[in-house]
Amino acid sequence: MTDPIEKRLKDQYRQVPKWAEDFPLDQNRDTHVSRRDFIRYLSLVSLGFFAGTAGVWVKSWVKSQQIHHYAPMKIVDQEDLQIGEAYVFEIPHLREPAILLRLGPEEFVAFGQKCTHLQCPVIWKKTEKILFCPCHKGAFDGTTGNVLYGPPERALPKLKIELRSDGVYFVGMERGDLV
Ligand code: FES
Repeated sequence: MTDPIEKRLKDQYRQVPKWAEDFPLDQNRDTHVSRRDFIRYLSLVSLGFFAGTAGVWVKSWVKSQQIHHYAPMKIVDQEDLQIGEAYVFEIPHLREPAILLRLGPEEFVAFGQKCTHLQCPVIWKKTEKILFCPCHKGAFDGTTGNVLYGPPERALPKLKIELRSDGVYFVGMERGDLV
């Protein structure tokens, strides 16, 4: 004997539901993608990639323009940095880290702090006079910023520094860009 509830449910689901009348879908055609649809999809994806790349390019161009027109910025008072010591600071409007080294009484140099390999921050090793990257053991010369060993292939960006009576100033870029 058939269960009456089961029978009622079966009858109910045999009928075409209301939504199916309003939105008749052909299941067999669900997975069919026409050539036109495929090309349209491909164009949209390419456009997305293009827009993303253009956005990144414009952003870095704007940043590089900013740095070339940057007003001098005081980093530190001369007497606050001992010979052989380093001072990490940030170029405020760029939010880019940089490192200032005092190599002698009147000798200051500064570099971008991001390693040119994969952007890890380099650290100052006073005894070896190198800027060392702990991520993949790369090293840069503390005087020139040139690569000494390890994976990096480019020197660190070098900042232009000016010594003034009231302190050490960042006044622009000498080599490369921070961004
Ligand atoms: S990130 Fe500096 S050596 Fe790789």
